[in-house]
Amino acid sequence: MKDNLACADAANNVDRANNAEANAQAMVARAQNDFLHDLHQGLSAPHKRISPKYFYDVQGSALFDRICTLPEYYPTRTELALLQRYAPDMAAHMGAQAEVVEFGAGSLHKVRLLLDAMDEPRRYIPIDISGAHLNGAARGLRQDYPGLLVEPLVADYTQDFTLPPALPTAGKRVGFFPGSTLGNFEPQEALRFLHQCAHTLQGGALILGADLVKSPDVLHAAYNDAQGVTAAFNRNVMVRANRELGANFMVHDFAHSAFYNAPLRRIEMHLMSTRQQTVRVGDSTFSFAQGETLHTENSYKFTVEGLHQLALQAGLKPGPFWTDPEQQFCLLWLDAPPSRNQA
Ligand SMILES: C[S@@+](CC[C@H](N)C(=O)[O-])C[C@H]1O[C@@H](n2cnc3c(N)ncnc32)[C@H](O)[C@@H]1O
Repeated sequence: MKDNLACADAANNVDRANNAEANAQAMVARAQNDFLHDLHQGLSAPHKRISPKYFYDVQGSALFDRICTLPEYYPTRTELALLQRYAPDMAAHMGAQAEVVEFGAGSLHKVRLLLDAMDEPRRYIPIDISGAHLNGAARGLRQDYPGLLVEPLVADYTQDFTLPPALPTAGKRVGFFPGSTLGNFEPQEALRFLHQCAHTLQGGALILGADLVKSPDVLHAAYNDAQGVTAAFNRNVMVRANRELGANFMVHDFAHSAFYNAPLRRIEMHLMSTRQQTVRVGDSTFSFAQGETLHTENSYKFTVEGLHQLALQAGLKPGPFWTDPEQQFCLLWLDAPPSRNQA
């Protein structure tokens, strides 16, 4: 009898592992279809463009981590310093047994400062599109925080996704969106995203990290580092298209171009064709004139007042904010009011 039960258990485990494997394969196939579809559309547009979300595969995430350590790239060290100093204040607002949902969580470095300051953090749900990188980082976090429930979610946060239901004894559900990743959205998309946060985090709050408007020279240096890491990160979208979609971008015939567009308060990143050339992606070909670009990323810069207005429009209620003496970067607490039923 015992042997039969053991056999049934083993069979269930094999089924579960096969299902997980099949789901993972289906997700990869869907992601590649989306990439192909979006790249075709973007290369067919009058001004060629592609979403920055396609930078992030294992190599793209590793390149982004290297960017974060560059001397020119002030945002990461400024935000980390803010977290080091003010995480206890943030934790006091979160209250006991809170759970943290992080959007675009990357290597899960910044959240450690929050977790260390929190009173019995209940669960951590990091969300990222870069699946293998996220799962590896989550394994490391579990080892360092053995009492914490860590439930990574590989998903595109611009699409529909479902969060696990709140735990019965958990405190507030607090969103964490550091790195000024909000600046990669167009203003309307940013509003939509914050609106979605107001809904998902009802009764909790969002801690938002945002890069502030500053001298164009400082911005220019941050996106044009001397070692060329940002250039390699930028080109990764083409490297990825060549590997995953069988495209034939001659990657080194595209120059990294990043500049501050002052009227629109955004850094623009492009890949500029250094010669007339034709690129094949799937069954289609696309021509680039010399000097024509593929627009790969915008990184909008903000003011605290502008962010407060945006938050209010999205249904979030501005609370305290924390900034550095040079006002380079800021972290904002935005309450997500409870729904009428919850209140
Ligand atoms: C600028 S990095 C910030 C990483 C980290 N939060 C930090 O502050 O250092 C953006 C992160 O968001 C993820 N990401 C970008 N677009 C995404 C999307 N549409 N859905 C989910 N994750 C996304 C990337 O994989 C990457 O880890």
